[in-house]
Amino acid sequence: MDLGLNGKSCIVTGASRGIGLASARMLCAEGARVLISARDEDALAAAVAAAPGEGTLEGVAGDVTDPDAGDRLVGECERRFGAVDALVNNAGTTRMRSLEQLEEADWQEQWELNVLAPLALMEAAAPRMAERGWGRIVNVCSSSGKRPSLRNPAYSVTKAAQLSLSRVFAERYASRGVLVNAIAPGPVESSLWVGEGGLADQIAAEQGGSREEAIAAAGAKVPLGRLGSEDEIAAAIVFLASTNAVTGPVPPGTGVTAPAIPSIESRSASPTIVPSVATLTPKSSTVAPGLIMFPVTRPGWPAAAASSSASVISPRLTAASTAPTCTARRPSAPCR
Ligand SMILES: NC(=O)c1ccc[n+]([C@@H]2O[C@H](COP(=O)([O-])OP(=O)(O)OC[C@H]3O[C@@H](n4cnc5c(N)ncnc54)[C@H](OP(=O)(O)O)[C@@H]3O)[C@@H](O)[C@H]2O)c1
Repeated sequence: MDLGLNGKSCIVTGASRGIGLASARMLCAEGARVLISARDEDALAAAVAAAPGEGTLEGVAGDVTDPDAGDRLVGECERRFGAVDALVNNAGTTRMRSLEQLEEADWQEQWELNVLAPLALMEAAAPRMAERGWGRIVNVCSSSGKRPSLRNPAYSVTKAAQLSLSRVFAERYASRGVLVNAIAPGPVESSLWVGEGGLADQIAAEQGGSREEAIAAAGAKVPLGRLGSEDEIAAAIVFLASTNAVTGPVPPGTGVTAPAIPSIESRSASPTIVPSVATLTPKSSTVAPGLIMFPVTRPGWPAAAASSSASVISPRLTAASTAPTCTARRPSAPCR
């Protein structure tokens, strides 16, 4: 399937590892030019050095919750690639913290990470996409935003807010060619869950079992009997970032099945664009639900004319930021 991503310019936040990196690599393999971001400069450089495919992968180190992160990332993408065609708001993390343990700073951290940061990026990118009549935004939310987990209520509550935020932007921008989707995976075997000190280790420490038991218990709640893979989620994200028409619900990438689609809300924005929201309801309350929101795309939108191009090493950002940056198209280049 041609996803029409060749030459598209994309931003993926939180892409030094995990779901974000898998998504960036897939976009790159499709020929897209991808700007990735994360705080860890070395990890970012390693990701850039292993760039696959025909596209371009470049990195900008920084904290997505910095007040200027939205403008800075969008500006960098435009400066390097000429535009922002697709934005994937993926940066995020969580840790075991009960309601009683959560302090105001924890709530604030999750609010900034899951709501204010994607808001800033969408505010910076969506109007420019709308001016050009084409854009894709994918917000990586969580199943715990649909059904809160007591492992970290601040994470769950702000992921719920991120779903709502996604809907606001989806409705605001669909008629102008900018399709905004939210994907809500269940547990995924990224470092967030299975990495050293990740959720599996934290659960094991709290409950007294092994990390393997914690992973197995989480996987048992998913119909496939295992955690989702990074690539499974990335495939759904990349599809939603693509030019392909989306005319019906897409199953989430965790392997969660969707036996029924009980509600699809539709409202006509124009004869050719029908924003819709589909909620994939799990078979039982023990199943991690998946949610993807998507407006129906307008057929025949042109693919970007720009093609992939080799990049040069740019050791520093422009005056807009002092954050380190790394640039590579194969062969690899270090981040400086
Ligand atoms: N894994 C799951 O089970 C699961 C389930 C549902 C939803 N999700 C969501 O999926 C997204 C990706 O998670 P993942 O599982 O891939 O986690 P991961 O493997 O821990 O990767 C998280 C990425 O986000 C970056 N990041 C974290 N905080 C950041 C910040 N303040 N500024 C910039 N970058 C930041 C990390 O890099 P640095 O640390 O270097 O900044 C890393 O690249 C998150 O939004 C998460 O909530 C995950």
